[in-house]
Amino acid sequence: MKTIVIIGTAWGDEGKGKITDFLAAKADVVARFQGGNNAGHTVIIDGKSYLFELLPSGVLHPKTVNLLTQGMVIDPQGLVKEIDKLENKNLKLYISNRAHVVMPYHRAIESANESKKGSDKLLTTKKGIGPTYSDKAKRIGLRMESFVGPNFKTELKKIIELKNSEARQLKIAEFDADKIYQEYQEYAKKLKKYVIDTSSYLNEVIKSGKKVLFEGAQGVMLCVENGTYPFVTSSSPTAAAVPLYAGIAPWFLDGAIGVAKAYTSREGAGPMPTLIDNPKIIEHFHQTKVEYEPRTKTYRRVGWFDSVIIKHAKRVSGLSHLAVTVLDVLSGLDEIKIATSYQLNGENIDFIPADIKTYQKVTANYLTLPGWKEDISKVRTFDELPLNAQNYLRKIEELSGLEIVVFSVGPQRDQTIVLKEIF
Ligand code: IMP
Repeated sequence: MKTIVIIGTAWGDEGKGKITDFLAAKADVVARFQGGNNAGHTVIIDGKSYLFELLPSGVLHPKTVNLLTQGMVIDPQGLVKEIDKLENKNLKLYISNRAHVVMPYHRAIESANESKKGSDKLLTTKKGIGPTYSDKAKRIGLRMESFVGPNFKTELKKIIELKNSEARQLKIAEFDADKIYQEYQEYAKKLKKYVIDTSSYLNEVIKSGKKVLFEGAQGVMLCVENGTYPFVTSSSPTAAAVPLYAGIAPWFLDGAIGVAKAYTSREGAGPMPTLIDNPKIIEHFHQTKVEYEPRTKTYRRVGWFDSVIIKHAKRVSGLSHLAVTVLDVLSGLDEIKIATSYQLNGENIDFIPADIKTYQKVTANYLTLPGWKEDISKVRTFDELPLNAQNYLRKIEELSGLEIVVFSVGPQRDQTIVLKEIF
């Protein structure tokens, strides 16, 4: 395959950055196509940890060209900080002239709206992502083309008038157009050289036979179209969204690797049918620190592997293969469960109900498999895995109907084991 997309199969944090980084070594181009700096991708190389919120994981490979395409919402302040921090001073980056710009008023309005919500809070990342996508749909957004162009100041003034009427309604401080302009024109100056029509660029690259890796953020269950609405993000983190958000033909995409944790985790609010409530098992996960989220200083909720979700992700997103991450975290558990279907009002169902209140009511039907005690972090082939771990992976393949082409047993690059080369 020459063009492939990496998709999170559930609620994000599946370890996509690590799989992307691994595949990026073979890619000519790595492109992010949706979301913004609500995403956090950690990649660990030689013991050193790199956190990217906007830049594609390809920036760690000196020859790779990195793209931020038109479906993204880009915070210039965050992006400039990330670029300045990079050791790779020969950064090859292009930003779409159609991508929307996250501005300080987006963050302020989001915080004000969230704090008004009380117990209905979505627990968003408060990075202004939702309000920026809203402005795009309302057709009052600011695009990169305008941001780095000569009319930035005039456009900003017009938008700030609208935003100040929102600020008055929300009873928050009004925005000062001149102050924002002073700070943001500096970012515009720095970013201007990267801004191009990324759709035209991508089409040329793909036609010339180069390898392109699309890097999804979040996961299918956070998709605004197919996820647990309203507890979702504001874009579509699916393979189906790539052509629209990157400006390429659907038939230019050869495959989609779904990245699934060997269990399930969820940050933020919203239902999770396989949530684990046994304190001893929760403690097992907490001890590993894998689910600790430094940005929010909390542990993510954890649950058992949910094959209803994988089948949903496969159908609505399109997935051709599967990567299973953090298998090592399950080592030491006596038993491991996999949800095979749900129960709703006494009936078995194997789909995700559209209505959030109904989804909150479902319980999972489980298959229980024996665990393994061995530390598997040094395993480098499938055959070296304990038999119970092999059986666990085979069961996931059988239930999802997807072939596992990669699995990982730790955060380092060499702890990613490829079972089949597909890219
Ligand atoms: P937003 O994307 O900031 O609007 O947040 C909407 C929901 O998506 C919240 O529940 C967030 O916790 C969740 N979310 C957004 N980005 C990520 C991510 O990268 N990983 C996990 N959850 C995320």
